[in-house]
Amino acid sequence: MNYNYTTEQLQELDSAHYLHPFTDSKKLSEEGSRIITRADGIYLWDSDGNRYLDAMSGLWCVNVGYGRREIAEAAFEQLQELPYYNSFFKTAHSPAIELSRLVCSLAPAHMNHIFFTSSGSEANDTVVRMARHYWSSKGKPDKKVIISRENAYHGSTMAGASLGGMKPMHAQGGLPIPDIAHIGQPYWFQDGGDLSADAFGEQIASELEQKIQELGEDRIAAFIAEPIQGAGGVVIPPATYWPRIQNICDRHEILLVADEVICGFGRTGKWFGCDYYDIKADLMPIAKGLSSGYLPIGGVLVGDEVADVLINLGGEFNHGFTYSGHPVAAAAAIANLHILMDDGIVDQVGQETGPYLEQAWGKLIDHPLVGETRSAGFLAAIEIVKDKQKRQFFDDRGAVGTICRDVCFANGLVMRAIEDTMVVSPPLIMTKSDIDEMVALVTTCLDQTASQIKN
Ligand SMILES: Cc1ncc(COP(=O)(O)O)c(C=O)c1O
Repeated sequence: MNYNYTTEQLQELDSAHYLHPFTDSKKLSEEGSRIITRADGIYLWDSDGNRYLDAMSGLWCVNVGYGRREIAEAAFEQLQELPYYNSFFKTAHSPAIELSRLVCSLAPAHMNHIFFTSSGSEANDTVVRMARHYWSSKGKPDKKVIISRENAYHGSTMAGASLGGMKPMHAQGGLPIPDIAHIGQPYWFQDGGDLSADAFGEQIASELEQKIQELGEDRIAAFIAEPIQGAGGVVIPPATYWPRIQNICDRHEILLVADEVICGFGRTGKWFGCDYYDIKADLMPIAKGLSSGYLPIGGVLVGDEVADVLINLGGEFNHGFTYSGHPVAAAAAIANLHILMDDGIVDQVGQETGPYLEQAWGKLIDHPLVGETRSAGFLAAIEIVKDKQKRQFFDDRGAVGTICRDVCFANGLVMRAIEDTMVVSPPLIMTKSDIDEMVALVTTCLDQTASQIKN
């Protein structure tokens, strides 16, 4: 639908009325936004007819790629049959029930319940209330503190942004809310100094133990972390990190929450980040890849121990959303999961295209600007640096990343800059030749970035 506006008219109306997320509105109205008009497979088109290879799957979410008729048809059918009803007041409907069954069948064996939301942020708000309600129901109402990590991203609501460790987000709106604490992140390239990656992984994980001791185990409800930090810069933890975190959580009486909003639904080549790292979590917030972003839906997968307490001791959980388990979003999610299952996409990423991407992406290390390449499944990053050997970033951190991102757009590639870390999270349907095309484009863009910095 283009509503018969020209690009200029759309840009004018956009800046007159539309406040965008995470955007400096003044700057945007000076520059004018890029109007995306359609998409198919791994490509997007803008209103001027330019094509882009979308190496970010939208916002880390369009796992099955664009233009899947099966999802559109499932949503259309459901819109005609029952466009809306809620799950409050002892009611339910088959799309939400079937989606619950299906997601639980894909989740780790000890996860057999799900609470639906419309986004990852709402899922993480639900985590905070659910974890505290769990402990309170067990007679431990003082266990309220959630420990998270610096530079984590858990959403934009008050609780989501508080759990997140993004300082610019905390600086607006008086965050974090009470009883949220943060520890360091497992970002070896930036923070590892002279330690080996494995030694650094151990050291940074042990900050969790120190924080538990500092605050007192009887005050702590949970530790939350993304298996791989996405928005923080595709921070892939050293191999020692998760086993140590799991061990600390097992030895102390705290819940382990794995935020699967990005890692879930095949992103790592396994169904969940927890499968990739062999993590046993108590709660798993999910969203994005659940519906491949076709309609907004998220949720919290609940492990059996927590579910047992909530169901048998918790009484009424005074929490829920008008759109929890929305029938049309649920129908779209079911169709999306069937595509992932029937087309064998998760195994394909795990066994074929993920390893292929790792090897093709790894070759970018030969570029003079690149200090590190890393990838896991279909999540990958490169660090743009001034000095490779010293792992030293450019002085004006983020400036080169912004240049590179703009160069990418100009060359028909969507690659995200997180300061000077360039990241991709491609649609899981990418073939080997799509990967070759993407990596060739990245190389061209790095060359052009290098020549722009020199001038
Ligand atoms: C790990 C993680 N958790 C939560 C969220 C928030 O999800 P949403 O934007 O759907 O609220 C995001 C979004 O990028 C995320 O990456």
